[in-house]
Amino acid sequence: MQRTSQHGNWSSRAAFILAAVGSAVGLGNIWKFPYEAGQGGGAAFVAIYLLCVFAVGVPVMIAELSLGRRGRGSPPKSLELVATDEGQSKAWSGVGWIGTIGAFLVLSFYSVIGGWTLYYVLTSAMGGLENITADASGALFNGFLADSWGLIGWHIAFMAITIFIVARGIQGGLEKAVTFLMPALFVLLVGLAIYSVTTGDGAAAIKFLFAPDFSKVNADVVLQALGQAFFSLSLALGTMLAYGAYLPEDVSIPRSSLIIAGADTGVALLAGLVIFPIVFAYGLEAGAGPGLIFVTLPIAFGQMVGGQIVGTLFFVLLAIAAVTSSISLLEPVVSWLEEHRGFKRPIAAITAGGAIFTVGLGTVFSFNHWAEVKFFGRTVFDNLDFLTNNIMMPLGGLLMVVFVGWFVSRKSMRSELHTITDGQFNIWYAMARYICPIALIIIFLSVIGVF
Ligand code: TRP
Repeated sequence: MQRTSQHGNWSSRAAFILAAVGSAVGLGNIWKFPYEAGQGGGAAFVAIYLLCVFAVGVPVMIAELSLGRRGRGSPPKSLELVATDEGQSKAWSGVGWIGTIGAFLVLSFYSVIGGWTLYYVLTSAMGGLENITADASGALFNGFLADSWGLIGWHIAFMAITIFIVARGIQGGLEKAVTFLMPALFVLLVGLAIYSVTTGDGAAAIKFLFAPDFSKVNADVVLQALGQAFFSLSLALGTMLAYGAYLPEDVSIPRSSLIIAGADTGVALLAGLVIFPIVFAYGLEAGAGPGLIFVTLPIAFGQMVGGQIVGTLFFVLLAIAAVTSSISLLEPVVSWLEEHRGFKRPIAAITAGGAIFTVGLGTVFSFNHWAEVKFFGRTVFDNLDFLTNNIMMPLGGLLMVVFVGWFVSRKSMRSELHTITDGQFNIWYAMARYICPIALIIIFLSVIGVF
């Protein structure tokens, strides 16, 4: 069944790859991955992470892009259409709903943190990090978080950029943005990594990232790594369903998925090579947690020669990575509004963006007025993070591979993945039917506390 997308299409395979890599590469790679690796013992975490990306992440991405391309609609619509084609229950559209609602919720806090990156670009560029001490850096960050109006302002700015791009459509907005932002991101990243490895303690960083000490691995590290792999690859929350819906028929989904996963992993590792040489050279704490980028790193920028420039470029890199991801989180919601409410794209983008912004205020207040307001012992922000990362992502991924592996006919999947050999197809199929569901069921059960 060949359909056409009412939302537009990618103009080429290259445009799609850039957009998908742009989606995958984000705060997850440059902010989360280094601090999680830092807390998870470095190379041990990295090794498990690689396994999760290629053994579970890539097969799920292939499934998700295929479903998107067969349905060619918003995530709920695509799932419903494919289920109908296959004579299955329309209730499968629920998987698309998990995606669309999940993307909505993730963007609500992603945009707040995206706002932090904009603030740090400005602060660094104006010399605000010069000679900053460890205490002053902590105070700067905490002071910023305590100022709800400041956070709201930067959250608005970040969301406005996201809305502006998505409102202009697939080719005029998303594609155009990634064609100049992704090369810029790449140049900044490689330049900063070279600078950091050569002027900082490159040897210590390489050892930290690549010489595993498996005694540090426990069930929590594995869970964390799988969650991070899904988040970093933009899986299970509608993004790849939406991006797949605009994909030309002749593009190879398996090959694209490998390229996207390879690029995403490469960027995460390069980000580690930007951050850790500096962290070690200045005797800072690699396991500092979420403050690694916003508190720890500025201390080094404040001391190094040319730190104002290096620091500013670093935060520009982070902001670019965040924007090319946030647009992919808004897209599933916008495509749904276009279909179901008949909104024109700009109106849909503003409506969706405005609603997401409003929900994001819960995250803003989690850092100040509502810091003590806890549900299940967690702030609003921590709950959103937990719900999306630990529940919706594994559940959405699980349902997706189960649907593709057990409810869509093998023949349909084979025709969708027509560019690979029978042997390659069989490997993927076995992973989608057995390996991924088992891995995801174990993760899910352990998250909800069964063991
Ligand atoms: N992958 C992005 C990052 O690493 C975030 C992201 C974009 C995402 N789209 C997604 C995460 C969909 C989960 C699902 O920052």
